[in-house]
Amino acid sequence: MTDTLFLISGASGRVGRHLVTQLIESGHRVRALTRSPAKADLPAGAEVVTGSFDHLPEGIFDGVTAAFVFPADGAGAFARAAAASGVRRLVLLSSLAAALEHERDHGSASQRHHSAIEEAVRASGAQWTILRPGTFASNLLAWSQPIRFTGGIRGPYPTSAQAPIHEADVAAAAAAALTQPGHEGRTYAMTGPEALTRVEQLQAIADAIGRELTFTEQSPEEFAAEMARYGVSADIVTMLLRYWSDTVTEPDVPRPPDALIGRPAKTLAEWARDHAAEFGG
Ligand SMILES: NC(=O)c1ccc[n+]([C@@H]2O[C@H](COP(=O)([O-])OP(=O)(O)OC[C@H]3O[C@@H](n4cnc5c(N)ncnc54)[C@H](OP(=O)(O)O)[C@@H]3O)[C@@H](O)[C@H]2O)c1
Repeated sequence: MTDTLFLISGASGRVGRHLVTQLIESGHRVRALTRSPAKADLPAGAEVVTGSFDHLPEGIFDGVTAAFVFPADGAGAFARAAAASGVRRLVLLSSLAAALEHERDHGSASQRHHSAIEEAVRASGAQWTILRPGTFASNLLAWSQPIRFTGGIRGPYPTSAQAPIHEADVAAAAAAALTQPGHEGRTYAMTGPEALTRVEQLQAIADAIGRELTFTEQSPEEFAAEMARYGVSADIVTMLLRYWSDTVTEPDVPRPPDALIGRPAKTLAEWARDHAAEFGG
């Protein structure tokens, strides 16, 4: 066990849970922030503290060497408070949208949200590292119900190609930035290792669960109407449609974080095997 202490916000999340586990497995001390410790069911060995960015528990930064900043509302104030309390290093989970590489990102909800938190982290006075992952493979969990109950999915732009990143790899990148020197003042863009069409992404899941699955093409208008019925915000739907329509002719350029995490990034086939049970496999 080392004498460093890492504070992990968003610890119960898909990325945070892997991060807590990876740090503990490497012999580090971890303090994990969650609003609901019972529900979070965090790994044994983590010191779990109850709270949120709106209600920071007393003494949360005591003894903390470095903190992982989850980009929920209030993350900027959390970063400032951490730095003011003597936390020397902050690692922020941001988004590739904040890199403004594509016209679609300029002014998008995700870009505005993540850029504002990046700015707060950079101005906090602590050493910082910013991680900018592209689309998460875990977004495909939205397909879990239709796959289980209808044997396939309906969606627009089946030939658009994205490079989804495994949440464990985002966590591994955060663990590296938290525990190793040399990442201060650096911003890392990262994606999964391969661009796959949405049909190929569905096929990766089909292979993992050993079941034939069908991709039924929907028009963008049908998709938007369906999402509205489920209460998904128009901002999010517009962002998704722009992304998929752009990546029909300009697939994501893969930028796996192999150098940062010290191993090849996980493929979507591996992700699908890791999540087979959630798709009824
Ligand atoms: N999806 C993508 O394609 C994508 C791409 C790039 C970046 N991102 C970024 O990654 C995030 C998703 O990461 P994830 O999948 O690991 O998250 P997740 O599984 O959705 O978990 C959300 C986490 O946020 C915490 N949280 C919510 N409100 C909070 C508050 N007020 N104060 C402190 N913590 C709070 C929750 O903690 P408790 O409930 O335990 O309190 C939980 O741990 C997105 O929100 C986005 O910013 C996503």
